[in-house]
Amino acid sequence: GFDYLVWLEEVDSTQDVLKSFEFPFGTVVVAKRQRKGRGRQGREWHSQEGGLYFSFLLNSEEFKEVPPLPLVIGLAVCNYLIELGFYPSIKWVNDVYLKGKKVCGVLVEKQKEKLICGVGFNVNQETLPPEAISLYMVDGVKRDLRKTLSSLLDHIDKSLEEFKSSGFSPFKDRIEERLMFLGQEVILMTEPPTVGILKGLSEDGSLILQTSKGDVKVISGDITLRPY
Ligand code: BTN
Repeated sequence: GFDYLVWLEEVDSTQDVLKSFEFPFGTVVVAKRQRKGRGRQGREWHSQEGGLYFSFLLNSEEFKEVPPLPLVIGLAVCNYLIELGFYPSIKWVNDVYLKGKKVCGVLVEKQKEKLICGVGFNVNQETLPPEAISLYMVDGVKRDLRKTLSSLLDHIDKSLEEFKSSGFSPFKDRIEERLMFLGQEVILMTEPPTVGILKGLSEDGSLILQTSKGDVKVISGDITLRPY
């Protein structure tokens, strides 16, 4: 469970707060704004007031498999959104989309036995870069960030408990149901780029692409996925 909640006004990044101080496992750090919010591959995460920016600390020793964590957390965010009446999809491996735009991003970083999981969730922002969207921009409702966080954490907690006890297999089909580009031709921005049809997930959460050279398994990594 998430036992400790720390609300901060402004930080560089909630990820770094958990990295720089000794907090117990289960601590959640939330900030109203981040000066240097970041995503995967050194990308910037826009963190002006109105969004939810939080990180929580997990013990890697409690997880048999770590690579599927962003998918499991992403599915929990989807479940919360579905409860609110939205139709989210998951962009492998770490983003949640609404109406073709990014509404949530998940970043998992490892420091010794610590897993630092960051979630950026666009809730009340009125404007965002063109590739992003907030819940407010979809339905015009301003939400209470504390209540939103608390419901979201309930969903995340539930998913993580199931993941700890049962591993990734019960999640595979549920995530595939929500998977963006499923059955479509995509490009993986590997070096050189790989083109293939996105067939689904394998038992460990990696992506299966059907290419001219046969099926290719893509382990979660710093890879960008785009429609071809
Ligand atoms: C991505 O889309 O690449 C992941 C984005 C993760 C953003 C969140 S906001 C809270 C936490 N602090 C950060 O600096 N990043 C994560």
